[in-house]
Amino acid sequence: MVANYATEDLYLLEDLSQRFRVTLDEIDGVATAQKLNKHQIDGKLYLRKSEIKQLIDEIFPNVNDESWGYEIPEYLQNSISPWAKTLVKMYREKFTYPASVSPSQGEFLKSLMCNIAPKNVVEIGCFTGISTIWLAAGLEQTGGAGNINSIDLFEDIIPAPPYHRAYLPNPLEYAQNSIASAQLAHRVKFHKSNSVAAGERIHEILSEPIDFIYIDGDHTKEGCEKDFMLFYPHVAIGGYIVLHDIYPEYCNWDGPRYTIDKYIKNSPHFELMEVQTSPVNYGMAVIRKLSRAKNLELRTKLKKTVIWQGIKGKPLGNFIKSYLSK
Ligand SMILES: C[S@@+](CC[C@H](N)C(=O)[O-])C[C@H]1O[C@@H](n2cnc3c(N)ncnc32)[C@H](O)[C@@H]1O
Repeated sequence: MVANYATEDLYLLEDLSQRFRVTLDEIDGVATAQKLNKHQIDGKLYLRKSEIKQLIDEIFPNVNDESWGYEIPEYLQNSISPWAKTLVKMYREKFTYPASVSPSQGEFLKSLMCNIAPKNVVEIGCFTGISTIWLAAGLEQTGGAGNINSIDLFEDIIPAPPYHRAYLPNPLEYAQNSIASAQLAHRVKFHKSNSVAAGERIHEILSEPIDFIYIDGDHTKEGCEKDFMLFYPHVAIGGYIVLHDIYPEYCNWDGPRYTIDKYIKNSPHFELMEVQTSPVNYGMAVIRKLSRAKNLELRTKLKKTVIWQGIKGKPLGNFIKSYLSK
């Protein structure tokens, strides 16, 4: 989406038109009317990152619509805790809805932290940091040594109707400032990275097994499966894996459901509890790793190997298949 050309980040107008669901002519017309500098490179039109806010304000004039956002509970609004005050401020920003967890879901995450008191927490997909603050506030309440390594691409947040309708350049800076104002920075380390790249260098990030991982990153089938397969081997036995957005019929993403059905639901290596969530039932799965899940790894490796291709359907292949499905 963002082309780094010469010294300045540029957005391709064609990409913006697809993302904003408006025609290229319309977007070009707004850019002209706003007297924005269009740059032509190899026959394509680009806009400067520094000018994109003007375009967004013009195309999405209803962004200040009060009905857009989560209802903020009174107890949160009346709290004097720095983390609660910071969350209230964040929930009032239009770009946090609906991608961030709702206050009820956040309260659930915080409660899991208070009850489990994990030491090593990993979060994949923190977005602006709302879920990170809920998790960190729970860790703070336990008074223990729990900390969070939070991984996100931290790409600029730009409108993607009908979901996001607002703009936030530099979400990493925003998340860092928010954690600081919540007085929880000592609990959190942010990593601007693709989760797959981070998973592949997990030993540089963590020296001990993960006690709790919250996966809310790439929600496609391939993305969620990859995150799960890369990170669950590093979860301690007895540790927890929480997946967000598990009900595709509500959230329109099928990755978490696919991962649960394929690897978790019928596996003896995991305990699974599915939780309905409010006010939007995107759902959360709380999964507990019971054993090293050797079969799961073996099954995935076998599927990929030529040997498996050679023996499937044959007596030895059928034996292995029945062993793996136990
Ligand atoms: C639904 S949002 C997370 C919301 C956040 N947990 C909250 O409640 O405030 C999904 C996030 O995942 C991040 N993401 C998507 N694919 C990713 C990947 N492959 N690696 C790292 N982060 C990714 C996106 O940048 C986005 O910020």
